[in-house]
Amino acid sequence: DKAFPIGETPQETGFSHVPKCYDISPSNRPSLNPDIADVVVIDLAGLNDPAQRSVIVKNIGNVCRDRGFFQIINHGITQKVLDEALGTAFGFFNLPTTEKARYMSNDIYKPVRYGTSIKDGLDKIQFWRIFLKLYAHPLNQWIQQWPDNPPDYREKMGDYAVKTRHLAIELMGLITESLGIGPKYLETKMEDGMQVLAVNCYPKCPEPHNALGLPPHSDYSCITIVLHSSPGLEIMDASDDTWRLVPELHGVLQVHIGDHVEVLSNGLYKSMLHRVTLNNERTRVSIASLHSLEMDEKMATAKELIDDEHPKKYKESSFNDFLDFLSKNDITEGKSFIESLK
Ligand code: SIN
Ligand code: FE2
Repeated sequence: DKAFPIGETPQETGFSHVPKCYDISPSNRPSLNPDIADVVVIDLAGLNDPAQRSVIVKNIGNVCRDRGFFQIINHGITQKVLDEALGTAFGFFNLPTTEKARYMSNDIYKPVRYGTSIKDGLDKIQFWRIFLKLYAHPLNQWIQQWPDNPPDYREKMGDYAVKTRHLAIELMGLITESLGIGPKYLETKMEDGMQVLAVNCYPKCPEPHNALGLPPHSDYSCITIVLHSSPGLEIMDASDDTWRLVPELHGVLQVHIGDHVEVLSNGLYKSMLHRVTLNNERTRVSIASLHSLEMDEKMATAKELIDDEHPKKYKESSFNDFLDFLSKNDITEGKSFIESLK
């Protein structure tokens, strides 16, 4: 009852119960009727108009400070691109086990990695998730290693990756501008930075109150952009310590502030705690696109934001430092990268 070979996971073979290794502690069990989060929606339509842009920057600054999470509309990525990325993601997860298992690995340093849970069989608790992690920038360096089945996987997922990355760099410009350090503060480093797609599948679960798709965590990234097929993402509302479900809104993208923006901002902006819950009616697919600096480029707090009244709060760290942390720690037991930097 511990670890399962890929393809023989309870999620994929239609178990009627959740095995013990997925059981989370009673205090962490999700509600089957969670409150709906009151999410701030940022409309990016006016970005090219200087007056509207400054309003957008102000609103982004407020929401980054208050919650570290928002949704965006009029983000410039067409519905067709979104639908086709989700469609081909479903197509991959629906393939026979032998096909998917070609990419299976527990080596978190691999640029293309298929797995279940987080570190399958190694972590204390298992999670009701199967995933394909893909390095996505520079795309021509990695795409040949991506699955070529479904036949349109590389094209559709690649197109989504490129468009999401442009959007992420634009958003980072708005975020640094809102911090008062200018829209170009990280531009070159973001252009040279890492993009990792976490393509997730959360099969329907026979006992959704007994398991989670992903444990509470914040992302190591600067920002993460999430597209999903149906609700399931919950965010922690720090004002009353309550998990709330992110509501569905057609065509929107979710944006998480990650640990590296918390570091950059000296804690002015907080990375957002989130988790994934399950249901017994439909399989959910999500694509989380994580954007950070280059593998070994350390994110440091902006010196403009440090003074006698605001001493530096965080150690510098890189994406590689995060991977080292993940290899040595079990985040399913609540170990947190951002805490390790304080
Ligand atoms: C995540 O960003 O941790 C997961 C995104 C999701 O499945 O909603
Ligand atoms: Fe996440």
